[in-house]
Formats: sequence, C-alpha cells, structure tokens
Amino acid sequence: MRKKVSIIGAGNVGATAAHWIASKELADVVLVDIAEGIPQGKALDLMEAMPIEKRDSHVVGSNDYDATANSDIVVITAGIPRKPGMSRDDLLNTNYKIMQDVVGKVTAASPNSILIVVSNPLDAMAQAAYKISGFNRERVIGMAGVLDSARFRTFIAMELNVSVENVTAFVLGGHGDTMVPLPRYSTVAGIPITELIPEDRLKSLIERTANGGAEIVKFLKTGSAYYAPSAATAEMVEAILKDKKKILPCAAYLEGEYGINGLYVGVPCKLGTRGLEQIIEIKLTAEENASLQKSAGAVRELVNVIGC
Ligand code: APR
Repeated sequence: MRKKVSIIGAGNVGATAAHWIASKELADVVLVDIAEGIPQGKALDLMEAMPIEKRDSHVVGSNDYDATANSDIVVITAGIPRKPGMSRDDLLNTNYKIMQDVVGKVTAASPNSILIVVSNPLDAMAQAAYKISGFNRERVIGMAGVLDSARFRTFIAMELNVSVENVTAFVLGGHGDTMVPLPRYSTVAGIPITELIPEDRLKSLIERTANGGAEIVKFLKTGSAYYAPSAATAEMVEAILKDKKKILPCAAYLEGEYGINGLYVGVPCKLGTRGLEQIIEIKLTAEENASLQKSAGAVRELVNVIGC
C-alpha cells in the first residue's frame, strides 16, 4: 500500500509541499484547508500534472479530516503567514488557536501518524502540537533547521562560487532571529568554512541567514517564503518514509539534551521510520552554548505566553 501524507493548510507552503512530495512520488497526498474549494482545486490541478511528470501519486483535496484518515505523516502548515514588519512572534496567538483546532482533528483521524509542524512561530507551534496531541516526542517534529541551513548553504555557495552540493551547514537553536549557525561545523567539500571565508564576510552571511525569512517577506510584501520551506518539509517527509536515518536539523522536544529541558529547540536529529530516532549531541564552545541558551530562552518566552 502506498504511503499517505496529509497536509493541513493548502496555502503556499502546503500546496507547494504537496507539489514536491507528489513530483518525487513519495506518497499519496491529501490537502486540507478551511477555505472551500482551495484544497480541491489545487489537488486536482496537481493530479493533472502527474501524467506529464510520469508519477502515480494521488492528490486529493478536502475541507474534511475524514479524508486524512490513517495518514503516515501529517504536515501542519495551517496558519496566517507573516506580513511585512510582522515578526514570527506576532503570529503567536492566532496560530496557536489554529493549532488547537487542527491538531485535535488530525490526531483523531490519524492516531498513529507522525506530525511535522511548519506553522510559525515554529518552535512554539511544535510545542503546542506536542502538548495538544499527547503523542510522544518521536512523533512530533518541527521543520525549521533544514530551511535555515539550506539558506546558509545557498549563501556560502554563492560567496565561494561552488556547487551547493559541496556545502553542508549546521544551524542550531530556535527558528528566528536568535538561530545559531555553527561555522565550525559547516563545510565545503569537507573543509570548514572558517578556513575559506574571512570572518567579517562570514558574519554577514550568518546575519543574512538569520534574517532569511524577513528578506523574502520584504520582497513579496504579501505572504512569506514557500518554495524553500516546502522543499525542506519534503526532505523530512522523504527521510521518514524511506527510513533513511538521515541527520537533519529539526525542532525536537529536548529532555535534558544540550542542558535544555521541556522545550522544542532546533538540534541535529536522526529521522527514520519512527520519526525522531535520535538527537545528536555535539560539544559546543562556551560562546556557542551561550547563543543556544539565549535562543532557547526566546522560545521559552513564547511557550510561556501560550501556556504550553
Ligand atoms: N484549518 C485548516 N486550514 C487553515 C486553518 C484551519 N483552522 N486556518 C488557516 N488555514 C489555512 C488558510 O486558509 C490558508 O490556506 O492555512 C493556509 C495558510 O496558507 P498561506 O496563507 O498561503 O500561508 P503559507 O505561506 O502557506 O504559510 C503557512 O507556514 O511558514 C509558515 O509562517 C508560515 O505560519 C505560516 C505557515
């Protein structure tokens, strides 16, 4: 039987995630949204692309969670996106209410699913989904680090004029201005970028990465980034469905790892068929650790506001 991935929120990120997942033939896809006609229309449009793409993924759209029954993975992108001048944190209360609505229905229809949370503010929404669902932490994972590190990789590749395939990058912490890119662990063909990029340039690439979402919001004016966020989501879906045991930076519920307890923060995670299969702990310098703790503090503030 084919795998089933449901995506809640058929907006830009959700529909584009459906596009990547179907075009890679990873699973059948169900798109759900409160807006009538939108998930149905986008799903049918994607289905009609499948003969051209030579893929047999089925894509259906619905306003009803019955269609999502027994999904292997449910991706949650429902929410309002960031508007210019709006921080991710401004979204907190609105998207928390949406999360309360969505997670209850998702877990009732797919009690054995793995949840990938994409809605912002990411770490707080992942924590909300974890608490509302009652799932164990292996089955509630937040998408942020794959996107943040992809942005960092893009800027490194542009800076050095090398293939993006040569670049790996390491980003820790919450998804936001306090994220912690780790140059020591970021490499080009195995060479740490600290050997290749002067410190002042590196600092500006790190700043650009931390502001990567806002840079796109400023261009788009209405709405926020969606191609890279949805591609990042599809990479996580693929790692889980194919049991790849792939190490990706994701938001995970920490229980003492990195000295952080009871909080979703971005860390290196091994993803496989059980979802989050392992959190990889690496040694940090005092400065790196201070940045990570500061980032966790920012997440903790949001989580306290919504009482999760
Ligand atoms: N149930 C289902 N769908 C909902 C609900 C709900 N309770 N509330 C809102 N939605 C839907 C909207 O109707 C809309 O179609 O969520 C969709 C969001 O799509 P967009 O507005 O296009 O936003 P998008 O760019 O996809 O971003 C979605 O992901 O990256 C984050 O910050 C971003 O939180 C935002 C989310």
